[in-house]
Amino acid sequence: MNIANSVDELRAVVAGWRRAGETISFVPTMGNLHDGHITLLLKARELATRSVVSIFVNPIQFGRGEDYAKYPSTLESDKQKLQAAGLDLLFAPDLNELYPGGIEEDTRVTVPGLSSILCGQYRPGHFSGVATVVTKLLMNVQPDLALFGDKDYQQVMVIKQMVHDLLMPVKILGQPIVREADGLAMSSRNSYLNAAERALAPQIFQAMNRAREKTLLQNTSLIAIETAGMAELASAGFRPEYFSIRRAQDLSAPQVGDTTLQLLVAAWLGPARLIDNLRIELPEPLKIA
Ligand code: PAF
Repeated sequence: MNIANSVDELRAVVAGWRRAGETISFVPTMGNLHDGHITLLLKARELATRSVVSIFVNPIQFGRGEDYAKYPSTLESDKQKLQAAGLDLLFAPDLNELYPGGIEEDTRVTVPGLSSILCGQYRPGHFSGVATVVTKLLMNVQPDLALFGDKDYQQVMVIKQMVHDLLMPVKILGQPIVREADGLAMSSRNSYLNAAERALAPQIFQAMNRAREKTLLQNTSLIAIETAGMAELASAGFRPEYFSIRRAQDLSAPQVGDTTLQLLVAAWLGPARLIDNLRIELPEPLKIA
């Protein structure tokens, strides 16, 4: 496995591959890798002849008071996992490498609309931070395709919109959520949970499944289902931010006649802000929104 810590080293390896006619797949991460990341890498390896993973904890996607300073760094064990999974190139730059002019006055990439709803409402500036760093990474890795986990469903939509609008020559692929045996979506932030919180955490997945069942019955309004989901999570000990059923294709409010919905949830449990989502395919078009 090659390791590049600078943009120049990264470009040199990628240029060599391009000259040799290789294809390149890319998985951007913030490290503290779990099986969800490794599943993305294994898929990436299937889809191209060379694979790149980046590890960079991007300060500008964290709000004031969020967990940037304590975000877990596990670089040595991450490297071992990547090596074992057959990665070709790890890009692990430091802050100065990606933000040579500092982070305050740096150019920002913003995807309007999608960035200000759901997580964007509770984390102002977050998606602009994500779009900016992903732009820097895509421009330098120059992959044919980049893979992202669907746990961050809204993030995948923001990145797809950005790539479309900026005419970036890369294919963005969202990949299925990888779950623990009890249903909890894998996330680096699950490590913030103590034993009691960890035991409670799968209730998000359970509440989402109950909401999906109710939605499929088509005898309750979506707003009533959302309100019940919020109440369930709150009474179980979470601090839910949203429990929201949207159109899957653009996250707008569902309309009568829709068939493909996405339920999205964000809820705090102790020190961890957990997010999750579930597809709802209606066999009959939606009767009441
Ligand atoms: O999903 C993540 O880990 C991050 O948001 C990403 C895409 C690596 C950008 O920092």
